[in-house]
Amino acid sequence: MNMNDIIYKKREGEKLAKEEIEYFINGYVKGEIPDYQVSALLMAIYFRQMDKEETFELTNAMRYSGDTIDLSGIAGIKVDKHSTGGVGDKTTLIVAPIASACGVPIAKMSGRGLGFTGGTVDKLESIPGFRTSLEPEEFLSQVNDVGISVIGQTAHITPADKKLYALRDVTSTVDNFSLIASSIMSKKLAAGSDAIVLDVKCGNGAFMENLSDAIVLGNIMTEIGEAAGRNTVAVITDMSQPLGKAIGNSVEVIEAIETLKGNGPSDITELAIYLSGVMIYLGGKADSLEEGRIKAKEVLKSGEALKKLRAMIIAQGGEGSVIDNYNLFPKHSIEENLLAKDSGYVSEITARNIGLASQHTGAGRATKEDNIDLSAGIYLHKKVGDKVTKGDVLATFYGNDRIKVLNAVKEADKAFILAKEEVVRPVLIKKVIGMNNEQKE
Ligand code: URA
Repeated sequence: MNMNDIIYKKREGEKLAKEEIEYFINGYVKGEIPDYQVSALLMAIYFRQMDKEETFELTNAMRYSGDTIDLSGIAGIKVDKHSTGGVGDKTTLIVAPIASACGVPIAKMSGRGLGFTGGTVDKLESIPGFRTSLEPEEFLSQVNDVGISVIGQTAHITPADKKLYALRDVTSTVDNFSLIASSIMSKKLAAGSDAIVLDVKCGNGAFMENLSDAIVLGNIMTEIGEAAGRNTVAVITDMSQPLGKAIGNSVEVIEAIETLKGNGPSDITELAIYLSGVMIYLGGKADSLEEGRIKAKEVLKSGEALKKLRAMIIAQGGEGSVIDNYNLFPKHSIEENLLAKDSGYVSEITARNIGLASQHTGAGRATKEDNIDLSAGIYLHKKVGDKVTKGDVLATFYGNDRIKVLNAVKEADKAFILAKEEVVRPVLIKKVIGMNNEQKE
């Protein structure tokens, strides 16, 4: 077998065999196949696509390219949740404690942000003392003792995805169904949970900009999950505007805490209840999705979910009292406002521009090596559908570098579009794909 033949085969639109896929993944991870040949193959895949079988084999080859996690030492059905990436998406910080408070063990590995999308691990690191890197034994014993742990993905899991993702990022081959699905599902399958809930984001702040593409991606990923023996549900959700009102790191943790206290923005609260309801159902702690949602609401109201977050923070070395005292989070020295130039109704807040603006404040990275300012970020005072009077504050920007913060205001200015007429708010939960379908559209 040789790489040139494999590239040629895909370039001509032929189907790759399991052995050929394994050959290129293993050779690439070992450093035996150079970036330029893998780049050529990625571009051929981009234009010629992979079918279901090839995508499944690619997922498996990546899944077994490094360590896999064995969660069998944790009793119960372990349920993972993954978002395909968005702006202001602090959902894990809310759904993980809710599901755990309902008895679903949460042993979750999360990622860092890149580009205009944020990452849970960065957000958690804004909590003073919080450790996102735990040894496997400590991770497992924390889930057994506390019922929840969220850590960063270790370097030894799916090394093929790490190398491929970095290459895709610089060869314009990120947004391909098979490449995205295999990247996400290889990590989820390697991470060992029994069931997987996928939050497939759809809109200008997501990889999938339109609903039909998001449905295709959701279908491919649920099929991969089911073929691997994991109950998998994909929920397609809106990412045409940022989720919630806070975008950044500490600001998002504060919003997640407020949501667990029952004071969260309506969209993030709705999404958190929906997704955790699915997790509770798949985790065997409810007999239906509806009952899952009822249980989620109960633990939100009783404060049990907030208690779980506090317990997780303390167990991972963090300052639990951040929950009562937000002054303990990293501090910013600069604040700037974006004011409405006109009166009307907010018709759009393009998530992509807000994500880029957040990156400008210092809250996000342009390259993997960039340092981030955990105190930086954005707070949206208005969301799509809200009425605005000229001079109102649309958004506040935080950071420690005035030039950066002013650049963020400039970028965000492009995001807000006002209309004269009343505007209908976007539907948040667009469709559910997977077992016991609750079809929505
Ligand atoms: N998230 C991933 O982990 N991989 C992709 O390819 C896209 C989003």
